[in-house]
Amino acid sequence: MSSSLQPLMPSPAAHSARAFVDGLALRAGEGAARPRVVAAMIASADGRASVDGRSVALGHPADRALLRELRAAADAVLVGTATLAAEGYASLLDDDQRTRRRERGLEETPLVATVSRRLELPVGIGLFAEPSSRVVVYTESGAEPPATAARLAVHRFDPGALDLGAVLARLGSEHGARLVLCEGGPTLLRRLVAEGALDDLFLTVSPLLVAGDADTLLSGPALEPAARLSLRDIHRSGEHLFVHYAVSR
Ligand SMILES: NC(=O)c1ccc[n+]([C@@H]2O[C@H](COP(=O)([O-])OP(=O)(O)OC[C@H]3O[C@@H](n4cnc5c(N)ncnc54)[C@H](OP(=O)(O)O)[C@@H]3O)[C@@H](O)[C@H]2O)c1
Repeated sequence: MSSSLQPLMPSPAAHSARAFVDGLALRAGEGAARPRVVAAMIASADGRASVDGRSVALGHPADRALLRELRAAADAVLVGTATLAAEGYASLLDDDQRTRRRERGLEETPLVATVSRRLELPVGIGLFAEPSSRVVVYTESGAEPPATAARLAVHRFDPGALDLGAVLARLGSEHGARLVLCEGGPTLLRRLVAEGALDDLFLTVSPLLVAGDADTLLSGPALEPAARLSLRDIHRSGEHLFVHYAVSR
């Protein structure tokens, strides 16, 4: 391994978020064993994933645009219930993105997939009040799901059998998903990495030092071995860095 320092950014071309995502060709091939899984996360320069319990203070318009374009490309968004609640999920896409999906023969919005062993959902958020939302929850509970305006499906696992590999397999076989976007949070993302089910990480580094006790990008016991990443690309917008990693196998 060379110890020389490489110039970081050989003048990467400026892209709109849409052109950037369109150029990535992220969808898994026909017949792949499971969907391609990409995560999009933002962290402060000291690695924290939230400020005052939410990620908004870390953000940047280019980060929001990238996240929404990744959603526009995805068949399903995989997100933890604590993130749904903390971030107050609602209206995932703009009208123009919905139109583009329709034109590509996709459902107007990506399926929102979440996991909750006890079937505890933050039903007060906007997502569940939108009739156009499609939500699937993977659970080990036998409880009745709450009534929502959103179309809510429940897929049940035996107690102890809920793992993300099985969730991804079902998203592929039952919902035709070939690209799943994981939007965290840190608990869900750690499980995904621990199961060897993450393919790409889009990490935005926010130019803030925040300290405190918020989670870092992954929350939970140390990964053994650590997951190794390969640098695919790096961009900037203002003082924010946008890093694309592939997870090495
Ligand atoms: N900076 C960023 O990019 C970013 C992104 C997303 C979120 N966040 C922040 O992260 C925080 C929320 O994240 P979080 O880590 O607390 O929670 P989370 O990952 O959003 O939610 C945890 C999820 O994991 C499930 N879970 C836990 N253990 C499990 C197991 N053994 N098997 C299957 N599922 C399991 C939980 O459901 P059950 O416990 O019901 O099973 C729940 O759905 C918020 O502050 C949010 O603002 C930041």
